[in-house]
Amino acid sequence: MNEVTDALAPIEDGQRAENCFLFGPSGAGKTTVARAAVRELRREVLDVPYAYVNCWRDYTRNAVLERLSRDLVGGAVPRSASTSTLLDRVHRDFNGPGVVILDEVDQLRETELLYDLHEFRGLSWIGIANDEVDLLADLDERVRSRVSVGYRVRFDRYGEDTIAEILERRAREGLGPNAASDEVFETIARLADGDARMGITTLRAAARKASSEGLSNIPRRLVEDSISEAEREIARKTYSKLNDHQRVVVDVLQEEAPLIQRDLHERYSERHDNPVSLRYFRDTHLSKLEHYELITTESRSGKKYYDLALGHPEQHKPIQ
Ligand SMILES: Nc1ncnc2c1ncn2[C@@H]1O[C@H](COP(=O)(O)OP(=O)(O)OP(=O)(O)O)[C@@H](O)[C@H]1O
Ligand SMILES: [Mg+2]
Repeated sequence: MNEVTDALAPIEDGQRAENCFLFGPSGAGKTTVARAAVRELRREVLDVPYAYVNCWRDYTRNAVLERLSRDLVGGAVPRSASTSTLLDRVHRDFNGPGVVILDEVDQLRETELLYDLHEFRGLSWIGIANDEVDLLADLDERVRSRVSVGYRVRFDRYGEDTIAEILERRAREGLGPNAASDEVFETIARLADGDARMGITTLRAAARKASSEGLSNIPRRLVEDSISEAEREIARKTYSKLNDHQRVVVDVLQEEAPLIQRDLHERYSERHDNPVSLRYFRDTHLSKLEHYELITTESRSGKKYYDLALGHPEQHKPIQ
């Protein structure tokens, strides 16, 4: 949090901030920290132009620019505006300093966008991804040297004690005092394995179960079942965030799994209007789906087979 705040500090003097790149595993607090740092900045310097873009959803240059045009500049954006119209609009009307959060930036398909951002007067960005990828790898050499990343911040999994503390505070705020014992928080924290999202989702599932049994606090015996319910709930939410390419992969696997990579790509290409290359498919879509544990792989007789991890996520019904 301190490093991100330091990166943004120049904005307080009307200057462009340093770009930063946050990376680390799921549920380690990257999105939370980026948003909190920007919120804090905006308390100091009122009305700093700001945009949050999830590159998982908005993965083309045009989609990101459309969002920036709306959120940084404001006003109506013409429907299906061309990239050059959007660029012109932001160039003309945006006056920095300002900041953009590019969440899930590893999903961005057209990284020349990072150069577009550099060209907007006074704009800086906070990029977020799970792995320490080279965001600038595909940029032209001349352009590459101009875009700099001032801060790289590695997020590690939370320790058990920290998760237990986060849970205890959430329970106090959300469920009232004495909703669960320290043992319950510690058990959930241990099973969450450093992932705060898993911890919080489990706590919520356990609270739901307890309340459906008419209990006013969460007994220890409900924790194990709540973990598996949380896994399904997270899978369902992740599924709802998938882009159209990744959804096709899940749908194909639903019908035909297990499949080797080449066959999976072929089936996907048959079904998608605008399929990406095998390499991009593997590096971006498959690796994301694997990272979020929606799909799994298994090696059999020297071949890697892909399958759905927990069945089709949309078919898991929340347990009341
Ligand atoms: N330090 C913290 N204190 C309280 N809650 C936290 C903290 N860090 C994370 N959380 C909560 O844990 C959940 C997951 O955090 P967050 O979304 O920031 O993870 P992430 O690193 O962005 O994960 P992903 O890579 O999957 O996007 C959120 O509900 C968030 O509110
Ligand atoms: Mg996140």
